[in-house]
Amino acid sequence: MAQRLLQDTQVKLASEQTQKSANWSIQTELAAGLNAPQASISPKYLYDPLGSKLFEAICILDEYYPTRTEADIFALHAEDIAATIGQGVTLIDLGAGNCAKAAHLFASLQPRQYVPVDISADFLRESVAALRQKFPSLPIVEVAMDFSSSLHLPTGVGHEHRLFFYPGSSLGNFAPEEALQFLRRIRQNLPLGQHGGLLIGIDLIKDKALLDAAYDDDLGLTATFNRNVLRHVNRLLGSNFVLNDWLHRGFFNPVEERVEMHLEARRDVIVSWPDKGNRRFLQGDRIHTENSYKFTPDGFGELLRCAGFGQSKMWFDPHHWFMLCHTRPI
Ligand SMILES: C[S@@+](CC[C@H](N)C(=O)[O-])C[C@H]1O[C@@H](n2cnc3c(N)ncnc32)[C@H](O)[C@@H]1O
Repeated sequence: MAQRLLQDTQVKLASEQTQKSANWSIQTELAAGLNAPQASISPKYLYDPLGSKLFEAICILDEYYPTRTEADIFALHAEDIAATIGQGVTLIDLGAGNCAKAAHLFASLQPRQYVPVDISADFLRESVAALRQKFPSLPIVEVAMDFSSSLHLPTGVGHEHRLFFYPGSSLGNFAPEEALQFLRRIRQNLPLGQHGGLLIGIDLIKDKALLDAAYDDDLGLTATFNRNVLRHVNRLLGSNFVLNDWLHRGFFNPVEERVEMHLEARRDVIVSWPDKGNRRFLQGDRIHTENSYKFTPDGFGELLRCAGFGQSKMWFDPHHWFMLCHTRPI
């Protein structure tokens, strides 16, 4: 009995220690970003429970063409996509969010296991609970993790016929070198010569006005989503950002071929956090919160080749605004 109690206490202490060290590295990363010459906050912090809900709402805005356009591609090419991938895959959904996009594939792909992966742990738990009600016989292994530094999946995740599903052009949140490393990590997790592979949604370079509107909508939902990151950072870092001090900026930068989101100080402010952390922002200073790189089909094909993938199949919507791409490792 005493031995059991001792073991339980040791396990509890170890898990508290792991949590403390995770919090410490998050705080270190956030403070480093805020102190950098160009202040920044990683876009992964946009997704707390409210941020994930706000993103769901953004997806149904008229201006936000990516979700609708990607869905059109799936509808237009459903049979070909399913035939290309094959049935019975282990469906690994990177940045699963509400899991809705993957759920649309269940009927045609008949996955043997569904593995939604997301950093937004509470939102993921809720999404998976609803999914389990709807698909009671589908084995689901949910993985709450930050995949930006490692893609080490738990042992319960099947190795057979893995399909990595990475929709919504989320790859564009990575800088080009990081995107290449991320694709290489996916490649290393894919066994050769099996069904599955990588199915990825990619947003294409297009008219600036369309891109500007998609990331700065009239209703101000994207602005709210962007400013909500400061509430999340206040909770994680213990900082004292005042949301009303910050304006949303979202626009296409054609030189860098990316949409950028920033928060711009409306007045001079000093933001502080524990252990004497602080930064003075002058009116007009910006915190860079997201990049969303846009691609050409050729440019993306080249990136896949560099990451160790073979021939790829690409499907487009009628306007060529968005692309869905399937590829396998070589
Ligand atoms: C743009 S949303 C896409 C959601 C959904 N897959 C879609 O296509 O509509 C990005 C998703 O990736 C998750 N995410 C962002 N950064 C992440 C990271 N570093 N590790 C794990 N998940 C991440 C977010 O929580 C969010 O659900």
